[in-house]
Amino acid sequence: MALKELTFVVCFWTVCTARHEFFSSTDQIAQLVEKKEDLLKGFSQYIDAEEKNVETMKSIYQNLLLSHSDPVDPEEIMRDPVAAYTLLSQLINIVKHIQLSFYQCNKYQNELDAKLLEIPQPEDLDGAASGLIRLQEIYKLYPEDIMKDTSLNAEEAYHVGLVAYNESKFQHAFLWFLYIRNTFKNYSTNKVLTNYLSFSAYHFGSLPVAIYFDHRLNLDSTNDEDIVQLNRLLHLQKYPDILTLNTESNTYETLCRGGIDEKTSKRQRALSCRYSTGGGNPRLMYAPVKEEVEWDEPRIIRYHGIISDREIEILKNISRPLLSRSLTFEGVSKIRTSQSVFLKEDKPVVSHFNQRIADITGLSMKSAEDLHVQNYGIGGRYEPHYDAWDDENERIATFLIYMSDVEIGGATVFPQVGVALKPKKGSAVFWYNLRKNGNVNWYTEHAGCPVLRGNKWVANKWIHEFGQEFRRPCSLSYWE
Ligand SMILES: *[C@@H]1O[C@H](CO)[C@@H](O)[C@H](O)[C@H]1NC(C)=O
Ligand SMILES: *[C@@H]1O[C@H](CO)[C@@H](O)[C@H](O)[C@H]1NC(C)=O
Ligand SMILES: *[C@@H]1O[C@H](CO)[C@@H](O)[C@H](O)[C@H]1NC(C)=O
Repeated sequence: MALKELTFVVCFWTVCTARHEFFSSTDQIAQLVEKKEDLLKGFSQYIDAEEKNVETMKSIYQNLLLSHSDPVDPEEIMRDPVAAYTLLSQLINIVKHIQLSFYQCNKYQNELDAKLLEIPQPEDLDGAASGLIRLQEIYKLYPEDIMKDTSLNAEEAYHVGLVAYNESKFQHAFLWFLYIRNTFKNYSTNKVLTNYLSFSAYHFGSLPVAIYFDHRLNLDSTNDEDIVQLNRLLHLQKYPDILTLNTESNTYETLCRGGIDEKTSKRQRALSCRYSTGGGNPRLMYAPVKEEVEWDEPRIIRYHGIISDREIEILKNISRPLLSRSLTFEGVSKIRTSQSVFLKEDKPVVSHFNQRIADITGLSMKSAEDLHVQNYGIGGRYEPHYDAWDDENERIATFLIYMSDVEIGGATVFPQVGVALKPKKGSAVFWYNLRKNGNVNWYTEHAGCPVLRGNKWVANKWIHEFGQEFRRPCSLSYWE
């Protein structure tokens, strides 16, 4: 088993064509902890089999072991996006080292089973870095803030800086490069890094800082004075301050950070809680659901305790092997980084749950889409969007189920009305995307904020118009 895995590692550049993506789902990354161990085990066995180059290989192996301590609980560690990024980086590093140690694999070709092991690719690391930068942008975090619990090494931090630079996020690139220069002494006179500092500052529009680093290119001295010098330059000139993140943000970002104005929260407090029997539905008479009005216009209702931890576990277990990158109407898109799957009714837990949604909402599930289960990745989010678009059989309503708590971030926000809903495991929120007259209610624009700490699992049930004619009668009024 281990030997097979190993030979796959050795040969996988040539045979592996299927692309399995990791960064867009923290759950997928969590499963890599096991693969990392398998890789190391396989590597160790190969060393025993090969007599040649044993000494060099052993020392490489020892170094890898030393530099990679395994987390105890994979899911726990994946709550921290920086730790998730580190895991991806370490795994790619191990593969690189193993590949360098071997150059022939014909001997083991027969045993090759490409499906045995899927390993993250450099694109995963780029995607993960991109996610970290997005978290920094929305939550206004400096490199030091995002590395509160896990620190990146010089190489990892450099990569994040390069990705930021590549995405034209020059201030974040600059801050990462500056962090490296100040933290890792061997970089303080590194010319490539100094060049990047200068160019990042130039593109950001901070000319004096660009010139400062351009001058330092030709000096071999250390940089103890950097911060003092930079601050002096920034005070003297009327150029944008590259050292300080801009705190201005749009409503979406403000809501994600938990900023709710007093008027909104007062209006929210006035809304009520009650037990509902779905208008006298017999299945709910004996076990009414706890209903909370989260907002009045558009009406957003939260139902508490509608799915048990055990049911959630089963849904996650069914979904895990089937997850793939979530699409938008344009296909794979940067505005939506998560992995998801549509679950058919053939599983009892799914059909049972669909029935419960029908009971609670009083709507027909005949034209509804299959249950859509979703796990977010590093910095995973879904930017503001409407669930409904111009269609004959429109998504009349959305039933969004939270399958996990999220420690920080991951709220569902409605920028048009200023409401933010925190994920709460076992609860669901429900709203109509259409007015009774059939028009899209533009106030239902919503977004999934990036997850700063935690794992976010949700399930969506999109309910369509057909079949609701007698359950939610039409109206000719413009306002209804
Ligand atoms: C930079 O972006 C381009 C596409 O815009 C991509 O092809 C390239 O691989 C990226 N480089 C890095 C270092 O991320
Ligand atoms: C600088 O040192 C770090 C370890 O502290 C090492 O990982 C990195 O490769 C070194 N970089 C250079 C450019 O020498
Ligand atoms: C889900 O899968 C895990 C791992 O395979 C297993 O230990 C657990 O019992 C499963 N849970 C349920 C509720 O089926």
